[in-house]
Amino acid sequence: MASKGIQEKTRYVVVTGANKGTGFETVRQLASNEGFIVILTARDEKRGMEATTNLHQLGFSNVVFHKLDVLDPDSILSLAQFIQQKFGRLDILVNNAGASGLIVDEAGLKALNIDPVAWLSGKVAKQVEGVIKQSYEKAQECLNTNYYGVKRVTEALLPLLKLSPSARIANVSSLRSELRRIPNESIRNELGNLETLSEDRVEAILNKFLHDFKENAIEENGWSVMLPAYSISKAVLNAYTRILAKRYPAMCINCVHPGYVDTDINWHTGTLTVEEGAKGPVKCALIEDGGPTGRYFDQTEVAGF
Ligand SMILES: NC(=O)c1ccc[n+]([C@@H]2O[C@H](COP(=O)([O-])OP(=O)(O)OC[C@H]3O[C@@H](n4cnc5c(N)ncnc54)[C@H](OP(=O)(O)O)[C@@H]3O)[C@@H](O)[C@H]2O)c1
Repeated sequence: MASKGIQEKTRYVVVTGANKGTGFETVRQLASNEGFIVILTARDEKRGMEATTNLHQLGFSNVVFHKLDVLDPDSILSLAQFIQQKFGRLDILVNNAGASGLIVDEAGLKALNIDPVAWLSGKVAKQVEGVIKQSYEKAQECLNTNYYGVKRVTEALLPLLKLSPSARIANVSSLRSELRRIPNESIRNELGNLETLSEDRVEAILNKFLHDFKENAIEENGWSVMLPAYSISKAVLNAYTRILAKRYPAMCINCVHPGYVDTDINWHTGTLTVEEGAKGPVKCALIEDGGPTGRYFDQTEVAGF
């Protein structure tokens, strides 16, 4: 472990799903801050090591790799033990890893040439039906990654974050999370009511979603028809963010939509660069003491849930 003086000035950071896309760029931007040590994590050792080597070649010797699959409790435990033994605490956690929950015919989607504004409005669900397929297993994987994965990683790292004088958690969400996009009023109200929100209630909503998915009753029961599993996974991620922020008022815990970024997760239909997309997560990671907590950022600005 580093000497005490150096250790106090250092900021130890974890970014999940950071071998590519916005996560990789978030690591790069955070690593450019003096005194930062950034742990680039990825579920695939080879892809993660390659990304880390790329950053070393760009001069970021303060980036270290550790394997992390957010679906695998042993992998999460191993990361927590590594940080505990090597650094003794964690200052910033960026929960960036995400899954779309879809099987996509990429060429078919490109051929539709959908206008980005129409895509973001969520009104093209019927139009993309032929090229975007969903399955129960993919929907489960999406909820498991985007909500339960974040929860698992956060719970494992919280004891280390509690040792930080100014802990930050940035949960990378999506504009699909926005409550106004959920047609079912009671789900919308429940997810929007911080007084009554709890993990149990959030998880009951997810169970109901999976039940309706299996019964082919998504539209009938008022879930978002555009990317349904992804949308609810990010809506509950925001709810979880608010629950955590209320529970740990000394930390700054926020969720952030990075923008519509050109990455693999949207089959490169996004319009922003990863440099632009990482700005919001980086801002949430670097919030000053006493800054916003329990909020949703649309890129770099606080917005309504
Ligand atoms: N791009 C956008 O327009 C947009 C908009 C809103 C929100 N977001 C959110 O932004 C975040 C980053 O996505 P991106 O746009 O940068 O897409 P991306 O390039 O596809 O990156 C997704 C990352 O998540 C990782 N991942 C998936 N499952 C994982 C698991 N079980 N354990 C660990 N890592 C896992 C992927 O690893 P592999 O390489 O191994 O698959 C990859 O590194 C996601 O949370 C996404 O939902 C993106």
